[in-house]
Amino acid sequence: MHRDPIATVTDADLFEMRWQRARGDLMAPLLRLYGDRIDAGELHDRLHGLLAAKWADRPADLRRLDLARDLEPEWFCSHEMAGYVFYVDRFAGSMAAVADRIPYLRRLGIRYAHFMPCLMPRTGDSDGGYAVMDYGRIDPRLGTMDDFRTVTAAMRAAGISPCIDMVLNHTAKEHDWAMRARAGDPFYEGFYRLYDDATIPLQFEETLLEVFPDQAPGNFTWDAEMGKWVWTTFNSFQWDLNWENPEVFLAILAVILDLANAGAEVLRLDAVAFMWKRMGTICQNEPEVHDILQALNQAASVAAPATIFKAEAIVGPRELVPYLGAGRHTGKVCNLAYHNSLMVQFWSALASARTDLMTHTLRHHFPERFTGAEWATYIRCHDDIGWAITEGDAEAVGVTGPGHRKFLADFYAGRFPRSFARGADFQVNAATGDARTNGTLASLAGLEAAATAEEIELAIARILLGHSLIAAFGGVPLIYMGDEIGLLNDRTYRDDPHLAGDGRWMHRPAMDWNVADGAEAADTPAGRIWRGTRRVLRVRAQTPALAGNVASRILETGHDKLFCLERPGLDARVVALLNMTDKLQQIEARRVGLDAAALPPDLLTCSPPAQEGDRIRLPPYASLWIEEPRP
Ligand code: GLC
Repeated sequence: MHRDPIATVTDADLFEMRWQRARGDLMAPLLRLYGDRIDAGELHDRLHGLLAAKWADRPADLRRLDLARDLEPEWFCSHEMAGYVFYVDRFAGSMAAVADRIPYLRRLGIRYAHFMPCLMPRTGDSDGGYAVMDYGRIDPRLGTMDDFRTVTAAMRAAGISPCIDMVLNHTAKEHDWAMRARAGDPFYEGFYRLYDDATIPLQFEETLLEVFPDQAPGNFTWDAEMGKWVWTTFNSFQWDLNWENPEVFLAILAVILDLANAGAEVLRLDAVAFMWKRMGTICQNEPEVHDILQALNQAASVAAPATIFKAEAIVGPRELVPYLGAGRHTGKVCNLAYHNSLMVQFWSALASARTDLMTHTLRHHFPERFTGAEWATYIRCHDDIGWAITEGDAEAVGVTGPGHRKFLADFYAGRFPRSFARGADFQVNAATGDARTNGTLASLAGLEAAATAEEIELAIARILLGHSLIAAFGGVPLIYMGDEIGLLNDRTYRDDPHLAGDGRWMHRPAMDWNVADGAEAADTPAGRIWRGTRRVLRVRAQTPALAGNVASRILETGHDKLFCLERPGLDARVVALLNMTDKLQQIEARRVGLDAAALPPDLLTCSPPAQEGDRIRLPPYASLWIEEPRP
């Protein structure tokens, strides 16, 4: 009888094939990083052993998903992908209760769910959970790892990919590794960057920046108990790991694979820019960071291939691109990275009612597409907005970097004349005058300040414009919890001593389920924002040209009030036109490659765009998605 060879492929065969596929791309960066610290053969064998052990632990349904994703490696680039970001307690109360909210997420059109930090944090101030004490446990106030497994399985069944935060630049100072280091165990001392006296820290400080100059100035902390200085880029209780030590790589890789085996399909790698330190630099975006990311990603492709990596690197445009793969790392590092430049440019264009800086910056610095990778696009998240506008870009459009950054900080703090925003300053730097900004999408977009029906109208239009931008741009659009119902700033964090010192809590309000549950039918701003957001996501899900692996081409039209984008799909081309001002704008159809005599309908409204002669008309803050089938 004829024997079907496919039927004889065992799980062990699959593992070995994947190991062969990834081995070169995995070992090369590791040898560059650690070749002089560990014997190559030993590293190879330990890695193979670790991956085989984690693969052996991997549940059967996840192995099935692995196979599906091997066959469809760009699954996350689908036009149907859209993400939602939430704090477990503020969204659902507990880990187990998240499952009850799956129908809500599905109604909104969500296919990816980011659980904000939910591993066991230190007690007291934990930087919103980014100071992890135990990577193997869910925060006991939220539930257990078994609850997480149950919820991720339910999401998987509903076609939603769970994403979890993996903090790999630092641990809490109460983490077991740090406790052992403090107790003098040399193996764990090697996990951190410890110094007997201040000589080396002071040399590094000469070129380092400060992340939290207000609440945590400097980058080093004296630990009296240990009698040593510790590298602490963020808060004094977040100890930077020493990635020059291969043991750190192996230990963190084991954690990542355990989380993948618990059902996390996307790992949000926190603060990756800071992982490698080099004297005389700002110690961000060093080339070794990309070697580490490549090695982690390639290792996961062997033992948990269904998993993808998202880089959180909130850095300047030039430094951002390599996180999605450049040069020898092309197609091998992270699959997603936050497009913080797009986010900043959206707010900048709204405040200045001009799109020249936005068009220039986004055209100039970013490729139209990546290999096996795409953006995570967003308008707001749980962090402040840093006004990352470079001098060169500012000058290219006739403004100055410091002047424009100050304008944006003033505008969004509500200080600028006629500002519609109600944000707040964050980490004001007295030396440079730079300030970052806090505030929810709705409060920054004018809903909090709106006093008249017309102002409410404009605020809603700005919110939907933001969602239209991230959905049309290319990449996975991420909706931050509550933004789909226009939640306003919540200032009650000031009453909680553990939160009061960190103004970012202002834009992390708890979900308002009374509003959300009724939003579908409500004739309120919340209802209109909810339906508008869902519409944007639905239309996107029906439009293959908006998939993440279709080029994202910014059109230079010379019109400095409109942002114009082209998505050249195979079967159709979509032109997205966004009016970033509160005035009616017009543009000749041919300037965006359209024929005024035969304009196809706008996908968002299903009606033909308003026209005057050969010009397309856009009401204040309107967006049009015009799809032109290919001949
Ligand atoms: C990331 C997080 C931020 C946190 C920091 C340190 O930037 O988004 O909230 O404070 O990392 O972990």
